[in-house]
Amino acid sequence: MTPTAIGVFDSGFGGVSVLRYAQKQLPKESFIYYGDNLNAPYGCRSEDEIRSLTLTACRSLYKRGLKALLVACNTATAASINLLKEEFPIPVIGTEPDILNAEADLADGMILMMSTEATTRLPRYLKLREKLIDPARVVDIPCPVGFVLKIESGVFAKGSYDELLEQVLGGFKEKLISGIVLGCTHYPLIQTHISEYAVKHFKTAPKFYDGGKTAVRNLQMLLAQNNLLNSTGNGSVEFMTSGNMEVYQPLFRMLLASPEFD
Ligand code: DGL
Repeated sequence: MTPTAIGVFDSGFGGVSVLRYAQKQLPKESFIYYGDNLNAPYGCRSEDEIRSLTLTACRSLYKRGLKALLVACNTATAASINLLKEEFPIPVIGTEPDILNAEADLADGMILMMSTEATTRLPRYLKLREKLIDPARVVDIPCPVGFVLKIESGVFAKGSYDELLEQVLGGFKEKLISGIVLGCTHYPLIQTHISEYAVKHFKTAPKFYDGGKTAVRNLQMLLAQNNLLNSTGNGSVEFMTSGNMEVYQPLFRMLLASPEFD
């Protein structure tokens, strides 16, 4: 049988922010989401470790029968997208920090790129930075794993990220920060927290950029080019995890459905 599902992979729940756009853009498609929740976070690991975890997870996902694979993780994309493209004979789409769009879009001011520590040091991202016209405008903010750990535990109460945000953004108070690039797919899930901090402390409210949206547009384009778009169907989402299904499935469903994360 010809595979009809689109695989969506992340180290944990971050890819849900990308899956939410994908569902909106492609409502007739069936998605199988794989969260490597047991091994998250990836962002503090070596390139080799990230590659090996990503390959193992994506192989399990691919075995389910996929027509395309969306790597909804900036860290996994930076470390392994070429390996994944070589291994799987289907369209494979990565997610990358949207720094080029942010630079083209914003006439002045500084742009902050928030991501995992791994993304900021991996050669693929450093290559992407070389395409910037004025690299000095885009400041990388390698974020501590505390962000991802809290999101993975389902902590979203008001104020719960204030301390971490102070730690990474505290040095930019009263500065003209015109844009924030969410370079980790977990961070759109706490965009309201980041935005509240920025509005309170920066000179003006920054505009947000999310590479997940670009990734979904690329997915849609590749599906169309390869005649793989579903023309009928109600759409569905199946959840897979390397962790305990009873623990992770309820949080996954909540993150996917809650209007809080729009
Ligand atoms: N969501 C991932 C990303 O986009 C990484 C989170 C992690 O596992 O550290 O980079």
